[in-house]
Amino acid sequence: MTNANDTLPPPPFKIKMVEPIKLTTLEERKNILKTAGYNIFNIPAEKVYIDLLTDSGTSAMSDNQWSGLILGDESYAQCKNFFHLQSIVQEITGFEFVIPTHQGRSAENLVCFALNLDETKIAVSNQFFDTTRANIESIGTKAHDLVIQEAYNTSIYHDFKGNMDSNALEDLINQNSNVAVIIVTVTNNTGGGQPVSLQNIKTVSNIAKKHKIPFFLDAARFAENAYFIKLREKGYSDFSPLQIAQKMFSYTDGCMMSAKKDGLVNIGGFIALNDTNLYNRIKERMVITEGFPTYGGLAGRDLEALARGLNEVLSEDYLKYRYQQLQYLGNRLDTAKIPILLPVGGHSVNLDARRYLPHISQSEFPGWALTIALYENYGIRTVELGSVMFAHQNEYQEWVYPDLELVRLAIPRRVYSREHLDYVADSIIKLYKSKDRIKGLKMTYDPGLLRHFNALFEPIGE
Ligand code: F0G
Repeated sequence: MTNANDTLPPPPFKIKMVEPIKLTTLEERKNILKTAGYNIFNIPAEKVYIDLLTDSGTSAMSDNQWSGLILGDESYAQCKNFFHLQSIVQEITGFEFVIPTHQGRSAENLVCFALNLDETKIAVSNQFFDTTRANIESIGTKAHDLVIQEAYNTSIYHDFKGNMDSNALEDLINQNSNVAVIIVTVTNNTGGGQPVSLQNIKTVSNIAKKHKIPFFLDAARFAENAYFIKLREKGYSDFSPLQIAQKMFSYTDGCMMSAKKDGLVNIGGFIALNDTNLYNRIKERMVITEGFPTYGGLAGRDLEALARGLNEVLSEDYLKYRYQQLQYLGNRLDTAKIPILLPVGGHSVNLDARRYLPHISQSEFPGWALTIALYENYGIRTVELGSVMFAHQNEYQEWVYPDLELVRLAIPRRVYSREHLDYVADSIIKLYKSKDRIKGLKMTYDPGLLRHFNALFEPIGE
């Protein structure tokens, strides 16, 4: 069961600016899907009614952030907004060096470079996000996921389903002398936005220290993770989200952040760390790819909006509402016996497509089929975290399918109201009643790496 949460208290903000949305007709959506090659990423956003594709870069900024844009100092080097951002990141993370980047994946790329990753090395995570994995694997380094087994079962309750299996980590390190980095993703996006406990971060940190392996946080959703710790981990209920975040970072050597999530901005990211050598290597490299180290591919105004967003995201009122909003949607679906990943995560409610569409085999992409059906019937855009994203061929050219076939309903921050969530819940419940009519898909174009962005499909049997 989800936490009892049948009502949703009003948000701790009011609306000052509106953006119209419009529901297209069924006929229009059928045509749009055909033209889009049945790939949800190819659908014009204007033709989407409720867009739950991602919580990344989709936040509504506050009046405080918008007013900060006017104060953008667009000097090439050492702009004042950098120093504002630096001081806030230093306060939250405790790290000395702060390096802005234009988004999370560029931070990942720079960290991989600075750590000298190559084909002889291994990188370990609870679960790598797909861009992190792609950055690592594209230089030949092996990427291992060691999340606890409970993460692969959508109906088992666990307070911290994002935890890393620390015994498996010790074993892997004992068997391989070439583990070059440990990255814990908070919250674990790939596993449904599940949190990692402070105790687990501490245990992983001790192992990393013992074996002298750099330990980084992928901190895209660090504030949501901190709030789960406050609610669920013994001893932290009286701590502020900021204090918990500070503790999370204190056990690590550095972090990379896609600020498009808990930075509450539409673009941005950063790296923060203490190691002078790594810092210098990143600085030297980034002038070729990102820009000067005090702007990292961002305008001064973007840095200002991010500095302000990082302050706002740690507000307890905001985090409480965010948590309740997710619980509310999850609870509506769970009560109607829709198969979802339990417990509900920090930024997304995830449908278990294998249980929702048991008649479609993984080779015919049940998760993808469900995303198509939700758009076709209701104009709702979601994203598959399943076989299109994660299936791969082994050394015998056989397809290996992921354990989880999820459809992620990622909730943008401060964007949708309870009425929108009710529309989403009602639609999913209605669709479930005629689920047997949903068909699988055939992939007609497979682009290889990160294939969900560019793959094309045809419905089977049409
Ligand atoms: N790490 C995590 C945990 C992420 O969720 C993402 C992005 C990234 C890194 C990469 O950051 O997009 O700024 O380059 N996740 C988005 C999503 C795309 O929809 O979950 P980015």
